[in-house]
Amino acid sequence: MPADPTDTARLLDLDARHVWHPFTQARTAPAPRVIVRGEGPYLFLDDGTRLLDMVSSWWVNLHGHARPEIAAAIARQAQELEHVIFAGYTHAPAVQLAASLAAELPGDLSRIFYSDNGSTAVEVAIKIALQAQFNRGEPRRRILAFEGGYHGDTFGAMSAGATSGFYKPFREKLFEVDFVPYPATWAGDPDLAAKEQAALAALDALLGDDVSAIVLEPLVQGSGGMRMIRPAYLDEVVRRVRAAGALVIFDEVMTGFGRTGQLWAARHLSEVPDLMCLSKGVTGGFLPLGVTAASEELYRAFEGDSFAQAFAHGHSYTANPLGCAAALASLDLTLSPQTAAHWARIGAAHERVMPELAAHPHLERVRRCGTILAAEIRGAGEYGGNVSLELRQFFAARGLLMRPLGNVVYLMPPYPVTDEQLAQAHAAMLDAAQAFGRAG
Ligand SMILES: Cc1ncc(COP(=O)(O)O)c(C=O)c1O
Repeated sequence: MPADPTDTARLLDLDARHVWHPFTQARTAPAPRVIVRGEGPYLFLDDGTRLLDMVSSWWVNLHGHARPEIAAAIARQAQELEHVIFAGYTHAPAVQLAASLAAELPGDLSRIFYSDNGSTAVEVAIKIALQAQFNRGEPRRRILAFEGGYHGDTFGAMSAGATSGFYKPFREKLFEVDFVPYPATWAGDPDLAAKEQAALAALDALLGDDVSAIVLEPLVQGSGGMRMIRPAYLDEVVRRVRAAGALVIFDEVMTGFGRTGQLWAARHLSEVPDLMCLSKGVTGGFLPLGVTAASEELYRAFEGDSFAQAFAHGHSYTANPLGCAAALASLDLTLSPQTAAHWARIGAAHERVMPELAAHPHLERVRRCGTILAAEIRGAGEYGGNVSLELRQFFAARGLLMRPLGNVVYLMPPYPVTDEQLAQAHAAMLDAAQAFGRAG
């Protein structure tokens, strides 16, 4: 039912005066739209209209909005124990979640450290890598990362994502990171082999016995523009980093929980990381939670007789029971056969439309990894330019919540999205290319 329009006016007036929105230039951005309810893949606006959420609201809502199973798990937990300090105390949701994740994670990633979001999950991973080596007396201090990666907005995560271009005001406060070329590829890429060889040679030149770790988004760089690499290439990177005695950190904050068509991007590989970061989809979009999974071997590097060797890191809300209960309920849904069927179905629907996208004269670099589909609109400008804003409005006018990254239009839908809804989004991608692009 449409809300009273005067309520909306008042809400927006208060919003304009008191709220600071993320990644938004308030002076030029249109007023935010007021969402009153979510259900399945839809968000409902205060005027009664609805938007099909084709980006899972910043990639968090795996199972659609307001999934009753997750809501009920949080409600149950809230009546038992809403929070408890996690040093010296433990509780069933945190333990069960750690054990359930460890059972699904690759290799011996059996130790779970909780934090609050994707940035802190990455921050924790970098600190674990550096301190493990410090505790062992190894002189490894250099951090490597892929060019164009994004790992979040805290200082360590910004340092590892410095080439993403968001952090100019903080540049001299970021720690030094060496960046490895990222041979992004797409369907029909003619230069792939040469790009990969050059990138591996650059990696070899950077590796040495002073390298602590490489931090990377496996298979898909999200905020960097849905840029994809081949699993076999990433396997080779991991092998070389490992051979140099350095640690491998997979930032699966975006790719985790099925986005790539497998539970983890790591499942497409034969190599396994030493540390893995999860967040976003972990609670199905209900509550903030960060997870850093570490190998048993790394955990052992923190054992000792004094507190000096311990990991002196924690957050007020570490292992919040409500977040853990939501994550357990979301994991149950994620591990169901229906969800795996959705991954396959979404992937197949994307695959069917790819030839049409690739044939459009205004689109280039069409690519897919699992449930993620992306293409670039030729001649439609850069990230941060006006085009992404205009594209957002173009899609919203067609009833779609889509948020292109510059000229990169992409889909990352909640898994229960129907084939008809996918077809609507595919058609809108073609329409946007027609309206905003030019022939190459
Ligand atoms: C790969 C990756 N890592 C880390 C982050 C940071 O996560 P958060 O925004 O929850 O801090 C993001 C967010 O987009 C991400 O895509």
